[in-house]
Amino acid sequence: MGEFKPLVFSGVQPTGNLHLGNYLGAIRKFVALQENNDCMYCVVDLHALTAQLVHDDMPGQIRSITAAFLAAGIDPKQHIVFNQSQVPQHSELAWIFNCVARLGWMNRMTQFKDKAGKDREQASLGLYAYPSLMAADILVYRATHVPVGEDQKQHLELTRDIAMKFNIDFMDKIRPTGLGIDITVGEEPVHAYFPMVEPLIDGPAPRVMSLKDGTKKMSKSDPSDLSRINLMDDADAISRKIRKAKTDPDALPSEVDGLKGRPEADNLVGIFAALADKTKAEVLGEFGGQQFSVFKPALVDLSIEVLAPINAEMRRLMADPSYIDSVLRDGGARARERAEKTMNEVRDIIGFVR
Ligand code: TYM
Repeated sequence: MGEFKPLVFSGVQPTGNLHLGNYLGAIRKFVALQENNDCMYCVVDLHALTAQLVHDDMPGQIRSITAAFLAAGIDPKQHIVFNQSQVPQHSELAWIFNCVARLGWMNRMTQFKDKAGKDREQASLGLYAYPSLMAADILVYRATHVPVGEDQKQHLELTRDIAMKFNIDFMDKIRPTGLGIDITVGEEPVHAYFPMVEPLIDGPAPRVMSLKDGTKKMSKSDPSDLSRINLMDDADAISRKIRKAKTDPDALPSEVDGLKGRPEADNLVGIFAALADKTKAEVLGEFGGQQFSVFKPALVDLSIEVLAPINAEMRRLMADPSYIDSVLRDGGARARERAEKTMNEVRDIIGFVR
């Protein structure tokens, strides 16, 4: 029984401002994982075309996500930071995965249904195939661990389904190449070329909710800017948004169980915990029994303490686009080398002549 070499991969779309949900659900975890892992972090610019084809400032959007990665503390020398379009192998593997994935699987994707809205006939073919490209992003490096927010869980299950079907369909072709590894999936022994990726979703804020409605996800597309804290918000904006955040009239409970049925309180406590690197129980140990009039100012202070340095560093980096571009070019070259190795192996497994 073998094991795949551990590799962390994740991606963020260059569409709109990054917000606290992206930071706590994804980027903060990217930073923590660098310590003990080989990591690749990707600005997924090809994905950005799926919902909207023409963007006002595509280069600026790509650079600002890159700046956020670096400002949050990702080290582009030890790890790989790049944008997807610099590695054409993602698109090539995505095509192969389009032929692996079944229509029935794609039809179940809730994010497609949400994003396509009522007029599904007008959605792009790219939006429909989006999860297949996402699977290719990960598997073109045979990555094993993927830190994401909870909204990406279904896409990662599909990634596993695609990997599993490829492994099983091509098992007899994989074996003679010596490139596969014997693993068990559930009870089933499989000779696998692609790993079964593990989503890394845990933490106190896997799903950061809107500040205006604790039952809705904090999102770039919410028309109300008061619903989210953007990474580029200054201290005044952060303070105003938290003070205006919806709450209920009760004091905070002393136990996590007491947050049930109180989505806004649960959300703010989760945000506090994630920002402070604590559990919700620890936060409630400190603030249980207190009113929001006490808790909110503490949350404002903590948010500013964590976000202000990131904000300042992002602004500094954004003033030097040529440096950001050089980071992406260097990361792109290193990523291409790894991706081309996988693609050569995939071409051999499939039987393409080269
Ligand atoms: P994207 O660009 O929408 O979001 C980037 C990351 O932020 C997380 N996130 C949240 N986490 C907690 N609470 C929220 N309210 C919240 N909103 C967003 C997302 O879960 C994500 O981790 N499909 C992906 C991009 C992608 C990708 C990949 C990710 C493309 N290829 C390969 C991982 C691996 C997306 O649209 O993320």
